[in-house]
Amino acid sequence: MNIVVFVSGGGTNLQNLIDRIADGYLSDVRICRVIASREGTYAQTRAENAGLPVSIVSRKDFSDMEGYDETLLQLLEHSGAELVVLAGFLSLLGPRVVERYRNRILNIHPALLPSFGGKGMYGLHVHEAVLESGVKWTGATVHFINENYDDGPILLQQPVPVRQDDTPESLQARVIAEGEHPLLPEAVRLVTRGRVRIVGNKTLIDEEAEHPDS
Ligand code: GAR
Repeated sequence: MNIVVFVSGGGTNLQNLIDRIADGYLSDVRICRVIASREGTYAQTRAENAGLPVSIVSRKDFSDMEGYDETLLQLLEHSGAELVVLAGFLSLLGPRVVERYRNRILNIHPALLPSFGGKGMYGLHVHEAVLESGVKWTGATVHFINENYDDGPILLQQPVPVRQDDTPESLQARVIAEGEHPLLPEAVRLVTRGRVRIVGNKTLIDEEAEHPDS
């Protein structure tokens, strides 16, 4: 299955997908394009090092959402995207892209949604808010997107404990290592193997056992 991965930053989630394709866990997945929200991210370097085609599409280069939306739609169509993965992507997608790829766009969020999501809740801001709130658990969520920030049917969640001596940086590192990195390839594998159904705002996962070598 052809996937397009959207990135905005360091690209550890992108690298993780590249590695899991290489080691055979995502044997039937091919990243056909990486779309970065600005020039010069380390995610772009990672993509280029892996020989993947990269496009830069910045929301700020467009005067309105319509032009941005149309450009991304064309790019996705021409790339042959069958699934879109937002792997640390910080812009809101336009309504035409969301509609055309409904239930085919996954997002990874560094908290247990619906807590600590929404506009402005990205990167370290999420972990600062988690520490400020005093919750004992945070984690990672993979969900299908809709028109709103960090909304849409939840596919997988992985809890991660908050430690008393955590800083936003230490918590972010643990959520990425223990939450996001195991979760995102698992979510992509479930979807690309046709094991996910969406009913209303819920996902149903076909628990059918897989062959151990598959
Ligand atoms: C990840 O922690 C991801 O969950 C977060 O940005 C980081 C990107 O890291 N995404 C959001 O906050 C989206 N709301 P990466 O570039 O190293 O994969």
